[in-house]
Order: sequence, then C-alpha cells, then structure tokens
Amino acid sequence: MKQQLEQIRLQAMAALEAADSPAALEELRVKWLGKKGELTAVLKMMGKLSAEERPVMGQLANSVRADIEAKLEERKAAIHSAVLEAKLASEALDVTIPGDTVTMGHQHPMNMVLQQIKEIFVGLGYQVVDGPEVELADYNFTRLNIEEGHPSRDRSDTFYFSDDDSVLLRTQTSPMQIRFMENNKPPLCMLAPGRVFRKDEADATHSPMFHQIEGLVVDEHITMGDLKGALVAIMKKIYGEDSQMRFRPHHFPFTEPSCEMDMQCHKCHGTGEVDGHVCSTCHGEGWIELLGAGMVHPEVLKCCGIDPEKYSGFAFGMGLERMAMGRMRINDLRLIFDNDIRFLNQF
Ligand code: PHE
Repeated sequence: MKQQLEQIRLQAMAALEAADSPAALEELRVKWLGKKGELTAVLKMMGKLSAEERPVMGQLANSVRADIEAKLEERKAAIHSAVLEAKLASEALDVTIPGDTVTMGHQHPMNMVLQQIKEIFVGLGYQVVDGPEVELADYNFTRLNIEEGHPSRDRSDTFYFSDDDSVLLRTQTSPMQIRFMENNKPPLCMLAPGRVFRKDEADATHSPMFHQIEGLVVDEHITMGDLKGALVAIMKKIYGEDSQMRFRPHHFPFTEPSCEMDMQCHKCHGTGEVDGHVCSTCHGEGWIELLGAGMVHPEVLKCCGIDPEKYSGFAFGMGLERMAMGRMRINDLRLIFDNDIRFLNQF
C-alpha cells in the first residue's frame, strides 16, 4: 500500500506539472482526489490493514493528498498567469503609433458675419425671428403695399409655385415685417435673417439665392433720426468706428420716406481710384450700397392692425452676402456658395 501511495504521488505530480489548462487540472483533480478517484480507492482499503499499520498509512495518505492539493493550487495560479500573459501579449497596443488626424472645420464666413451681426442687434434689444421661405404673395407683395402689376411681381423675376401666382419663394425678408406685426403689439424690435430667391443669373454680384437681414422697430415717436442713428451705430460696430456712411433717397412701396445707405469704399476711401486705376471694390463709385430702409408706410401699419396715428416705425433690409464681402474683402459672390475648401480655409 505504501508503494501504491508513493506511486500515486509521483504520477500525480508529473501529470499536474504537464497540465496546461484549467480544464485539464480539473480533470486531474477528479482523477486523483474525486470520490471515485485513485487516492480514494486506496483509502477504502485501509480497513484491511493492521492496527499498527493503519495510522502510518493514514498519515502517508494525508501527506499525498496534501501534496496533490498544493500542486493543484500552484499549477492553477501558474496557468492563470500564463493565460493572462498571453492575452496581454495578443492584445498589446502600440500607443506610440500616430493616430488618424481629424481636420477640424469652422463656421462658414457667411455664418461668422451673420453671427456677429445678430450679436450686435441682440445687444440692442432686437428679437431674432425666423420665417418661411415658401411664402404667400399676399405677405411678400400685397400687404407690403406692392400692387398687382408691379414689376417685382413679374414671373421673370419671381419663382412662383402656383398658376394663380399666390405662392412663391420669398423675394425679400420684408414679409417678416407683416408676420411679426400680425402677432406682436408695439413696442416691436425685430431682426429676421433668412434666404431669399430671385430669378437672377449667377455672376460676381448676383445669385438666384442669397440672404437678407430684415429689421423692424415700431413704437411711439419713432423718427427717421432713430433709423439713421441705429444704422450708423451698427455699421460702425461692424466696419469700424472711422467708417463713413451716407443716406440717399430711394423708393420702396412699403416705406415712406425711403432711403438707401452706402458705406464709403474702404479701398479707395471714396475717390473711386487706386493708383490711377478704377477701384475694383466699388467699381469707381467711391461708395458701397449696404441696405434699403425707410419709415414703415402707414398703410402697412394699418393692415397689421397698428394705429399709424399713434405708432411709427422704421425698417431696413440688408444683403448678408454684401456685408460679408465688404467685411472679409471677398470680390466674387460665387466664392461664398462654391464651398471650395481652399477658399473657406482662409477665414
Ligand atoms: N426688401 C427691400 C429689398 O429687398 C429692402 C428694404 C427692407 C427696404 C426694409 C426698406 C425696408 O430691396
């Protein structure tokens, strides 16, 4: 029996040493120590031993069991760390490999200028609103005092959706004046930027789609002086304190009196010439047109339910592309819409 036990110890040690997975270890544990295992089988024969032999064999059997258990634990730990090592090795990351660089974009120059303009107006208490690009002729023309037959209503200038010319792509942001006055009571202070559409061929200064920013202020005692003061202050914020402005009389059906506002050309300083050549920025004009404006026509106020005897107001509409071109020294409108990255990267 002693020989049998020593045999078990030797075989078990060798087998355990060779085992290389947790499953193989478990199989061996059952084989040697399990209820039907070899050590158990030997112990069952203990009853046949003499009284002197029994404790000696008992002790030996216990030490074999303890050795096998200790070896099992040792192998378990060794296999566990080997598996871990292998996993770490196979999943190793080389953190020194350069990553994929993500090129960060930035706002489109038009949005930069729009954002800046909005911030200035919000600082002056204007409420920024949005309106529909598909508009009713009623809002785009009729209620702005633009009568049937007016040239701007012509099919060759306006994108109409319906045969009866009642639905169109707005040609200006001025319909937002009506929409705002319909839903709000004075005092009013509105800014409405957005896209407008006209049947124009694209060239350096025209595009069938462009952006306007409409402004409207209505309160008691608003005068042309308020219009001039507000617009000059705003333009100086955008173009610099030393920029020169002028107002010219003009005509719009929905304002009376009406005017246009020009800024002195920043390139030729109003002379129209640079080094003996016609200034390319203002085409020799000396001035750059910025916007149309005027005192809201009493008929327009009336049709929105505002008493023109009590209230008066001013409105203006500026071209955003034109503002951006002046602000960022862009000489061709098409560049703004081309989305050429070489152009956009310059801002
Ligand atoms: N809507 C006019 C245009 O597109 C500009 C304008 C706006 C004029 C508001 C006066 C008042 O030309």
